[in-house]
Amino acid sequence: MPPPLPRATNETIVSPLEGKRIVLGVTGGIAAYKAIEVSRRLVDAGAHVVPIMTEAAQHFVGTTTLSALASEPVQTELWHNPTTPIPHTKVGQGADLIIVAPATAKLIAAYRIGYSHDLLTNTLIATRAPVIVCPAMHTEMWEHPSVEDNIDTLRERGVHIVEPESGRLAGGDVGAGRLASPETIVAAAETVLGPADLDGVSVVVSAGGTREPIDAVRVIANRSSGKQGYAIAAEAASRGAEVTLVSTVSLAAPPGVEVVAVETAAEMQSAMESRASGADVVVMAAAVADFRPVDAAGGKLKKRDGVPQIVLEPTPDILAGLGSTKPSGQVLVGFAAETDDLVANAEAKLTKKRLDLIVANDVSAPAVGFAHDTNAVTLLRPGAKPVEIDLAAKRDVARAVINTIVEIRTGND
Ligand code: C5P
Repeated sequence: MPPPLPRATNETIVSPLEGKRIVLGVTGGIAAYKAIEVSRRLVDAGAHVVPIMTEAAQHFVGTTTLSALASEPVQTELWHNPTTPIPHTKVGQGADLIIVAPATAKLIAAYRIGYSHDLLTNTLIATRAPVIVCPAMHTEMWEHPSVEDNIDTLRERGVHIVEPESGRLAGGDVGAGRLASPETIVAAAETVLGPADLDGVSVVVSAGGTREPIDAVRVIANRSSGKQGYAIAAEAASRGAEVTLVSTVSLAAPPGVEVVAVETAAEMQSAMESRASGADVVVMAAAVADFRPVDAAGGKLKKRDGVPQIVLEPTPDILAGLGSTKPSGQVLVGFAAETDDLVANAEAKLTKKRLDLIVANDVSAPAVGFAHDTNAVTLLRPGAKPVEIDLAAKRDVARAVINTIVEIRTGND
């Protein structure tokens, strides 16, 4: 796994996991190894992870590994627990959130009936904190009426269920029952502990650089990685929005986000225009080519024919078009990648394209903008003082952008 990114210092844009005490319960399934990565991601986001393993879990992964990647040593014992004489209530009472990943059919059944026979089940019964259960088991077990019934009951009680995915299972079987990815599980934790201030709001985001064909094999492209747009989509989804991401790149889709793949400015324009009219929020984070070849050759241009004369024409300004037809109440956000006169250039685009917010970044600065995992931006709104967001992970910058969008929407009400 890559090293953790710098975490935001500005307290308004820290992850909702920052400083939270999260109990991570691991039960006995082959997917127990994935709990290690869940722990590491939670710790990287600033959480304090208290790991508990059932006896069966220890047959799949050692306590040493999880202890090393959590915030404190793994607890396994209800009795003779060195941390407290009353672990059966203490651990659950002190938690902000409990995640069980993977959760076996046995744990799910025990939790449903309140059968508190070990440290993890006691902790689940003794907590008032929200609980996320991430089942993982063979398809036959996952689809068994008893498991379905237990899951339904837990859901009715307010337990958050992160459904298993379909895929390869232990023993070479394929089907539903594979533990959700660590990314999905951590996203669920962010949703549960986050502000849910975009609940039910429809958000359309564009991401990546467009690619304009010169011939059958060559394109005019740019250095945009799409990472900032994906981070905005992920942040909006984690706060309850229904998100569509119109993308030219094939990064992993953020949990819960619908991705529409496009390549050229023309494809992006039609995808954005058809979706934007019904959206509450539109964020144009894509780096759209300003020019494209007038006529792309159908086949491959031959070297032996000499240096080609490629005639370019301007692409449509998608964002300006969206600005001119913007429905009332919609929040329209653009980006401005600049190398000089950042604020003045961005302000001109804010006005000209009729935007509610423009996110300007100096792409010539180190670790900023295209392809990096970090960004530093200035947020500009009509008639308001520019707000600078210092270098931080793109997800933290996304949080700052979404916070501002929420502020604008609150002002619009
Ligand atoms: O004018 P400039 O290209 O710098 O504006 C950048 C903003 O406009 C970005 O939000 C980008 O997605 C959008 N844009 C667009 N269509 C273009 C060029 C840029 O929507 N043809």
